[in-house]
Amino acid sequence: MLRFGKIELDVPFVQAALSGYSDLAMRRVARRCGAPYAINEVMLDKIVNQPGRKRDRILSVADDDHPVGGQLMGANPDEFGPAAHAMAEAGYDVIDINFGCPVRKVLGRCRGGFLLSDPKTALDIVRRVYDAVGASKPVTVKMRRGTDNSVESERNFFEILDGAFDSGVAAITVHGRTVTQRYVGASDWEFLARVKKHAGDRVILGSGDLFSADACVRMLSETGVDGVTIARGSIGNPWIFSECRALWRRDRLPDPPSVAEQGRVIAEHFAASVDEHGLEVAGRVMRKFGIKYSEHHPCGVSVRDAFIAVSTSEDFNAALDRWYDAERDWPPAVRREGHGDLVAAGATV
Ligand SMILES: Cc1cc2nc3c(=O)[nH]c(=O)nc-3n(C[C@H](O)[C@H](O)[C@H](O)COP(=O)(O)O)c2cc1C
Repeated sequence: MLRFGKIELDVPFVQAALSGYSDLAMRRVARRCGAPYAINEVMLDKIVNQPGRKRDRILSVADDDHPVGGQLMGANPDEFGPAAHAMAEAGYDVIDINFGCPVRKVLGRCRGGFLLSDPKTALDIVRRVYDAVGASKPVTVKMRRGTDNSVESERNFFEILDGAFDSGVAAITVHGRTVTQRYVGASDWEFLARVKKHAGDRVILGSGDLFSADACVRMLSETGVDGVTIARGSIGNPWIFSECRALWRRDRLPDPPSVAEQGRVIAEHFAASVDEHGLEVAGRVMRKFGIKYSEHHPCGVSVRDAFIAVSTSEDFNAALDRWYDAERDWPPAVRREGHGDLVAAGATV
């Protein structure tokens, strides 16, 4: 059981916030495969505060999407309270604050990971959010392990961590890479173990290099963190949640999903994407997921090429029909080996 604030999860495996990915469709599929909690893509406080279509979309929370975390990013503490309040009113169950994004443009605007170098403003933001919604919803924070490897960076990290908990934050997720590191090199799990030891009873979730169910369970046992947020390892791989559940029950790892089962889940994901984005856009949105789903397929390279060629929903459906025909006798599916090639291929967050 993982508990923070009012949230009670039966297993400690969370669908991480993933900009460009963890939309409603992805969250629905993750839940279907066993994720007990999912976090929306990061949203700019300013956009939440500005009337318009984007705000309306962010603030429409589906009945079957609970518990769901809404994550905010910004620079000006004044913007955070109203944005958090609007999200809480809209039905988000948790308000999460992003102090981790390492994208250059974001840092240049003093948002995301930049705030790890400015504990005073970071903690002002935490207080504003807590004052706005803390009485009714848990407030959580996402951090990287610092700006860089300097002593000052580590001091700032712990100042923000302790200050945020003192202000009433219910849980903090720590990604074991620095902001300057972006995605190069490993996530430092020893640092996560140190953070958990320091935090004691306060709830810490770990992040970084969780590409298999085995890695998720290992992070829990090696670092002592209370839960894990699964990020790149869940893209095109929602089965990681059912696999985590199996290992958590001490069952053996289930066989990789058959091609027919893959096809069923991809079709469901596509339908949810059409529901969310409309037929005209869904094919384009699903292309990047298809490319990652293809890694489970026994003809992975050809399937990958087929998804790469997708630019419309018709193309997506055609690739799905051709490569996931449940009537065909496919060779056994393959277990996907974990890696972070998504970022190497140009992901930005
Ligand atoms: C494409 C992409 C988008 C991301 N978007 C977000 C985001 O919106 N909010 C956030 O807190 N972290 C975001 N992250 C960071 C992940 O949640 C996670 O902390 C990081 O990828 C490390 O985990 P991993 O090595 O298991 O992927 C993103 C990462 C990637 C690769």
